Amino acid sequence: MANLPLEIINLRKSYGPGMVEAVKGISFDVQPGEIFGLLGPNGAGKTTIISTLTTLEKPTSGQVKIFGVEVVKDPMFTKRQIGVVHQEVINSGFFSVEEILNFQSGYYGLRRNRERIHFLLHKLALFEHKEKKVKQLSGGMKRRLMIAKALVHNPKLLLLDEPTAGVDIGLREDLWKFVLELRAEGMSILLTTHYLEEAQELCGRVGIINYGSLVALGNTQQIIRQYTQKKVCLTLTQPFDVKSGYSFKNKDLDYEFLIPQNLPLGEFLDEVGIPLQLVRDVSIDEGDLAEAFLKLVNKAELQEVPS
Ligand SMILES: Nc1ncnc2c1ncn2[C@@H]1O[C@H](COP(=O)(O)OP(=O)(O)O)[C@@H](O)[C@H]1O
Ligand SMILES: [Mg+2]
Repeated sequence: MANLPLEIINLRKSYGPGMVEAVKGISFDVQPGEIFGLLGPNGAGKTTIISTLTTLEKPTSGQVKIFGVEVVKDPMFTKRQIGVVHQEVINSGFFSVEEILNFQSGYYGLRRNRERIHFLLHKLALFEHKEKKVKQLSGGMKRRLMIAKALVHNPKLLLLDEPTAGVDIGLREDLWKFVLELRAEGMSILLTTHYLEEAQELCGRVGIINYGSLVALGNTQQIIRQYTQKKVCLTLTQPFDVKSGYSFKNKDLDYEFLIPQNLPLGEFLDEVGIPLQLVRDVSIDEGDLAEAFLKLVNKAELQEVPS
């Protein structure tokens, strides 16, 4: 079997004696060519995990492997495989956009990297700003520059730590498009975010962490189905005396039911005994990742409360 872009095995990280463990035994992997979403509220441990991948922090225990190689054993190799876009925007105000990308290329020993740099400048709509000093750039341009910087050496695994935090909606959508293009070219991507809509749109699989522990891991659609209910809204032509085990709300001729995701609508209507000819209109709300996330995170919080 080929080596996975990323494999994390029972990772633990404590920032010091007597401090709460920031990561409490987490395992997951990133498959080739996938966008994997690492989700969790602020303080959950997302950036800590990223920091162990980039050698910024050492795991307290457990293993972190990039393309089969443990980061602590061969940091030079693993660093060359990854590109990182950090959560905090780093300000190197006095250099120009192009200079920064040249320095970054030099850091990887790439002295003639003009073609790649220009390609990225065009892709990220920075080409006409390439002479500008970083301090002259808007917030959105700085973000794009950080992404270009992460990609100068053509990494095989891209780590994006909350790339769209505080970014306006237009730029956010451009970034999503760009991330999808990168994946189409075969790049594997680990994305941390607390925008659930973003994760639902981009990530085939997600891991949800809370207080340093995974509370869900798997296919995004399956997690949504598992942790949400289907909302069925019926508008009837006349009042109906509902005798249903499912929770429902009723206002005038509108009836709103919460039913299991896997219950087909026809079966449900049979079960509640509403004749089809009384149904004027139906709408179904399938539930989303935000709903599943809240359920999981609240549940986990309850488990944390000491009895
Ligand atoms: N350098 C550090 N020293 C001590 N504690 C830290 C450090 N970095 C993060 N933490 C703590 O570790 C926990 C996880 O933080 P972090 O990984 O930044 O979460 P997230 O990125 O999910 O918001 C938090 O409780 C945070 O306060
Ligand atoms: Mg973070």
